[in-house]
Amino acid sequence: PASDPDLVERARAAKAALGDEVFILGHHYQRDEVIEFADTTGDSFKLAREAAARPEAAYIVFCGVHFMAESADILTSPDQTVILPDLAAGCSMADMAAIAQVEDAWADLQEAGVADVTIPVTYMNSSAAIKGFTGRLGGTICTSSNAKTALGWALEQRGDGRVADGSGKVLFLPDQHLGRNTYVRELGGSLEDCVVFDPHKPMGGLGVDALRRARMILWRGQCSVHGRFSVEAVEAARREIPAVNVIVHPECTYEVVERADYVGSTEKIIKTIAAAPAGSAWVVGTELNLVRRLAGQYPDKRIAFLEKNVCYCSTMNRIDLPHLVWALESLVEGRVVNPIRVDPQVAGHARTALDRMLALPG
Ligand code: 13P
Ligand code: SF4
Repeated sequence: PASDPDLVERARAAKAALGDEVFILGHHYQRDEVIEFADTTGDSFKLAREAAARPEAAYIVFCGVHFMAESADILTSPDQTVILPDLAAGCSMADMAAIAQVEDAWADLQEAGVADVTIPVTYMNSSAAIKGFTGRLGGTICTSSNAKTALGWALEQRGDGRVADGSGKVLFLPDQHLGRNTYVRELGGSLEDCVVFDPHKPMGGLGVDALRRARMILWRGQCSVHGRFSVEAVEAARREIPAVNVIVHPECTYEVVERADYVGSTEKIIKTIAAAPAGSAWVVGTELNLVRRLAGQYPDKRIAFLEKNVCYCSTMNRIDLPHLVWALESLVEGRVVNPIRVDPQVAGHARTALDRMLALPG
């Protein structure tokens, strides 16, 4: 539906009044009505970099979800303020790993005698506290666009560094699918090296021997949107659409990713479809706002959503034009609403982990 013209006008006016003081970042899963006002759009990695590269902006309005705004706060200077237009814009996957659970899991790894040879690799989609834990223990953050490099780095650190015999392990938090897909499909690892650590069970429900044998200890977390795409939907698309290309996000299950033609972050999905020839057919396994936008942008290509039963990411969708207008107009009036401020102690270690990611090659 078309945006309310009054709100559009108010957003324009507030943005113009604020000028360079404010910079608006928009994740690719945001609604069209919000993306229209973004100064930059991107995947999680690009947006983290963009936030760090805007020292002139006193206010960064982050149109995305809470963990992204936290990361932006960690990466910007203390005199900049990051604003999340709706504080209810969380991420169900990030919520699947609470810091107390992760600390308990680490104690389990210590008890099993494997903590010394384990390095945490944490997906961007996690709380600042878990990024802090990761930084403290020598690990790195990754996003869907650099998971291969980050995971390879972690395995090498342990394999070629402190643990000379290659028996190093990774604790991958919190998305089991991204961890498994990257290890097996991108790095050529074996599925048998992977175990899933269930934080609700003692020793992750695994036992000491399984933890000792494993190379990839995958946290039992997943995205409530991407985890729902099914193998059946991929097969149906192949049956129904001639010469279809299936492209999915690596947060999808291993079984789905295995059957896809292309896998990548939101930025990669966009670039791949943009570069495809006119007349080509695509089914896309990622968030619906992005798929709809792509379909609108490329009417010369046939672009469809992978699965009818999967819906929008409800938390990404919390950021709408009324919330954006509220945040901007408040700034015009000299009020800061919904600032995201990470505790400085947590932020220090989290920054270490984020800086490690930003320093990775590529
Ligand atoms: P990317 O934009 O990094 O691909 O991440 C997708 C996502 O789920 C963000 O919440
Ligand atoms: Fe979190 Fe999934 Fe929504 Fe991304 S799409 S914000 S991972 S719930």
